[in-house]
Amino acid sequence: MLEKLNEIERLGLDALEAVRDEAALEAWRVAHLGRSSALMQLFNGFGQLTKEERPMVGQRANEVKKVLEAAFGARSEEMRQAALKRSIEQERLDVTLPGRRVPLGRLHPDTQILRELYRIFGEMGFQVYRSREVESDEYNFQLLNFPVGHPARDMQDTYFVESEGRGDNPIVLRTHTSPGQIHAMREVAALNPHNPPPVRIVLPGMVYRYEQVDARHETQFDQIEGLAVGLGITFSNLKGTLADLARRLFGQNVRTRFRASFFPFTEPSAEFDIECFLCGGKGCTVCGGGWLEIGGCGMVHPVVLRNGGYDPERYTGFAFGLGSQRIAMLRYRINDIRYFWENDLRFLEQF
Ligand code: DAH
Repeated sequence: MLEKLNEIERLGLDALEAVRDEAALEAWRVAHLGRSSALMQLFNGFGQLTKEERPMVGQRANEVKKVLEAAFGARSEEMRQAALKRSIEQERLDVTLPGRRVPLGRLHPDTQILRELYRIFGEMGFQVYRSREVESDEYNFQLLNFPVGHPARDMQDTYFVESEGRGDNPIVLRTHTSPGQIHAMREVAALNPHNPPPVRIVLPGMVYRYEQVDARHETQFDQIEGLAVGLGITFSNLKGTLADLARRLFGQNVRTRFRASFFPFTEPSAEFDIECFLCGGKGCTVCGGGWLEIGGCGMVHPVVLRNGGYDPERYTGFAFGLGSQRIAMLRYRINDIRYFWENDLRFLEQF
């Protein structure tokens, strides 16, 4: 009997040596400590032993059981530790590896150019003034000297907001930032109606037009409007301001030109162009004919001054409305305005 027990012990311990994984360990437990294992069978057959045999065999059997159980416990702990070690090794931090780059958001090129424009105009003494994107016909057109039915309205194909019952004053998405001129003048003039203070503002913001979309035209784009009203303001001040802007943006040698034009809210009116250095003035998809039209400008029309609360007999002013994306196109050599709102990361990540 004792021989048998020694053998059970030896076989069990040897078999445990060969165990390599969880499944084998469980199989070992069933085979060597389970109900039908040789050891347990032996316990079951205890009754057949003689009185003298029992204490010795009993003691040894319990010993073997303890040995096997302890070996099992040790082996399973060993395997647990090994598994843990393997998983730690697999994940081990190599502190010498370069870190993973956290993708950082960045400012849209249009925002960047607008901020640069605020800075430049700020240095020239202009304040930023914001006004609404949804306007009434009155502000978008009438107060700017586009009477109802005026043909110049066709220059700005308009998006109307459903506005039943408003007659000749429907709600529109602003087609330009110029209505902000009226808001700003009225606000400033209200500070001292008999002697309105001077105005020097830039008005940035999104404008909307039902346009044929192409490389230079979008149905939604940013403008930055400028307005200076005061005593003795002349067309030279306007030319000086815009030429200086171009130099600050593009360097001392940049060429600019003013072309006579027409807007209902300015008289005289001009168009302001910057030489297209994308094509070296030869003409390309961005500029068309070698010059990129950046915006319109002129001396504020007397009717507009009056609508803003300024007496045109005493006050004069100049105004301009620039397309900030057009400026960004020159600045960053972007050859199609449609890139701005396409949300294509391959474009946006370049800025
Ligand atoms: N509002 C005009 C447009 O969107 C641009 C413009 C022209 C603005 C002349 C002005 C200006 O302030 O004086 O086409």
